[in-house]
Amino acid sequence: MSVKNNKKILVTGATGQIGSELVPELRRIYGLDNIIVGVHKKKPVNDLLEGPSVYIDVVNKKTIETAVENFDIDTIYHLAAILSVAGENDPWLAWKINVEGTYNILEVAREKKISKIFCPSSIAVFGSETPRVNTPQNTVMQPRTIYGITKVTGELLCNYYFNKFNVDVRGLRYPGIISNKTLPGGGTTDYAVEIFYEAIQNKKYVCFLEPNTILPMMYMPDCIKSTIMLMNTDLSKLNYHSNYNVSAFSFSPENLYDEIKKFIPTFEIIYKPDYRQKIANSWPQTINDSDARNDWGWNPDFNLTKMVEDMIITLSKKINS
Ligand code: SER
Repeated sequence: MSVKNNKKILVTGATGQIGSELVPELRRIYGLDNIIVGVHKKKPVNDLLEGPSVYIDVVNKKTIETAVENFDIDTIYHLAAILSVAGENDPWLAWKINVEGTYNILEVAREKKISKIFCPSSIAVFGSETPRVNTPQNTVMQPRTIYGITKVTGELLCNYYFNKFNVDVRGLRYPGIISNKTLPGGGTTDYAVEIFYEAIQNKKYVCFLEPNTILPMMYMPDCIKSTIMLMNTDLSKLNYHSNYNVSAFSFSPENLYDEIKKFIPTFEIIYKPDYRQKIANSWPQTINDSDARNDWGWNPDFNLTKMVEDMIITLSKKINS
């Protein structure tokens, strides 16, 4: 059922992996015309074109201000970011987009009195000194990737804006997100999406991580669900703001291969670990998300088996149509 109101929501990075699925869901809930697609380089396609869009370059504060004024924006989902692998290839760009971009969003939110901001963080905030199993909400955060460094900075900056200026900014430490609409770009967890395309199309995948590399992951429907749940929780219930641990399931390439093989018995995998292995080795294997569960009732719908079945069915239809 669609809830009609006049609150306008801006989504930056709307054409990316998460944005391209969050936008349709927000439009379903709040109405097509109330969700504004923030467009930068990548042109929106298909269903994203159905409603309003606006040019946003997050490092150019003026473009954010103009969009907020012209559309009378009340809430921002700030998804524009450079991920871990892309960040290692261009650390300067990662700093600019992830830190300066977030700072600009927070400043516009403060100046224009935006009522709510969503600014995601990542499991990449953790590093080799962090306990890798059942990683706690509050623990050592010494990331080695520029992506992780920008995400820790972002978390701290967001919490500062909440405490100092009462900007209601919220965020989740997303694990690797698996989806079948838009490909992720430049992440270490991207293998867990690529593998499905290769399994269905070529029955063979060359994996850039070692077979036993366990990482926390989440299926897109749970990513969207957790994001909207956090944003809709009464502020008084939140003990954290920009940095909630959130989790669904964890697996290694080998675990994933075994599950996919149940559907595609001739599927083969070859392991050729590269520089991305080092990034994966510095991240947690499993996440303790009890604060998200206690504070706002987080509970994922998909486990590994359910996710794999849904991915194979959905992607096979898409690829073969
Ligand atoms: N999926 C991200 C990456 O691999 C982690 O947040 O960079």
